[in-house]
Amino acid sequence: MRISVIGCGYVGLVTGTCLAEVGHSVVCFDSDTAKAQMLRDGRMPIYEPHLEELFLRNRQEGRLSLAEDAGETVRSGDAIFICVGTPPLENGDSDLSAIDHVARMIASEARSPKLVVEKSTVPVRTGQELKRALAVYGRNSGSKFRVASNPEFLREGTGVEDFLHPDRIVVGVEDEQTERQLREIYQPVLDGKFRCPVHPSGCQGAPEPAFVVTTIASSELIKHASNSFLALKISYANALADLCERLGANVEEVTRAMGLDPRIGPHFLRAGLGFGGFCFPKDIQAFIRLAERAGMDFRLLKEAESLNHHQIERFVEKIRHALWVVRDKRIGLLGLAFKANTDDTRFSPALKLAARLLAEGAEVHAYDPQAMEKARTELPGVNYEADAYAVARGADALVIATEWPEFARLDWEKIQAEMARPLLMDGRNLLDPKTIRALGFEYQSVGRPDGDSIGLPA
Ligand code: UGA
Repeated sequence: MRISVIGCGYVGLVTGTCLAEVGHSVVCFDSDTAKAQMLRDGRMPIYEPHLEELFLRNRQEGRLSLAEDAGETVRSGDAIFICVGTPPLENGDSDLSAIDHVARMIASEARSPKLVVEKSTVPVRTGQELKRALAVYGRNSGSKFRVASNPEFLREGTGVEDFLHPDRIVVGVEDEQTERQLREIYQPVLDGKFRCPVHPSGCQGAPEPAFVVTTIASSELIKHASNSFLALKISYANALADLCERLGANVEEVTRAMGLDPRIGPHFLRAGLGFGGFCFPKDIQAFIRLAERAGMDFRLLKEAESLNHHQIERFVEKIRHALWVVRDKRIGLLGLAFKANTDDTRFSPALKLAARLLAEGAEVHAYDPQAMEKARTELPGVNYEADAYAVARGADALVIATEWPEFARLDWEKIQAEMARPLLMDGRNLLDPKTIRALGFEYQSVGRPDGDSIGLPA
């Protein structure tokens, strides 16, 4: 099938590349000309495992191209996936101006019937507005438009894997033809018929994804409901961590045992500095606002959000308590990305923490394996170092703010020797308390007063 993808951010790039990988002919477009040129030159604007390899191969094999002209992109696809950003407005609502702009552009540029798929995360009823905009602005084009919702459940850092091996593919449709067309687009994924870059020796055993067909409104709601629920789980784990610290219990022991109950499940119960990134913080806010406009006060989610803000403050308080005076202390920060395996620093708890420490007058030195460039523009007051050892040199405290696995493999003996005071504040419960204390560190983590680490699943 000929597919057009509008918007080459995380979602659009992964979607377009993976749809090409499973055999479709894909044309991508981004209105940011610098980003589009970068892609045309074969350079990735983001770091995402496997993406570059797939992107370059599919371009070379002729299934993936980058259009310079939006109209050409619209006309070349039977199905058009809208993957533009929906950033938060001041009041927490999603800014839908990019979706509106693309809708009007599709309406005026199309010359034949199109299936328009909303892939961007949008509040309920966007599909209806999209349909209306296409009909009104396209009334003289002679084109017929069908609209579908197809939310993405891609995690940054495992986007390619999540696309090719999803648990579910959700499609919100209004007619059988649209359902058939979307099923056809995803059939290779449903059948597992593609060369898997994630499991080169074969991905036997991967369960067949569920193909879930709903109304457009339900499909839109599923996305916000899923992200908000996961955020809620994390805040619950963080509230438990607080209680564990007060009562002398270990949050990892508690959540691991809880997670063995299949009704609860083991994932997204890792306590730490809280959730960040461009999805959870904005989606939970947008969901709260959506409920508000529908006449419901979603207090449960408001509390989850407030706990998340509080988590950083609680950690700053711990650092303050440990250091006695923060002003003029040298604090090392390991990690800047909002989580491991990404270079994304948007709404990163690590950056929030760095900003709070700078505001208290600390001298902050930081290192991240991938996110230095993005952090530098976002937070210029930090001293960016070449590696973790340079960060530790002369530091009064070292903070682990992102759970990069390579931080666990550092030479901690060497780091201990380099620091002015071997105070280690582990905001991601990455290290084993007993082992690290045995090396001479003063060590504090989240919700684990003493005890061994038992390594929770992500
Ligand atoms: C999230 C969802 O997991 C995806 O399913 C969804 O498609 C995506 O948002 C989106 O809406 O596009 P992502 O933002 O990439 O994906 O990140 P997650 O892996 O979900 O992590 C979010 C944050 O929660 C990170 O800051 C992470 O460190 C934190 N987290 C996660 C915890 O603090 N504890 C946990 O147990 C799990």
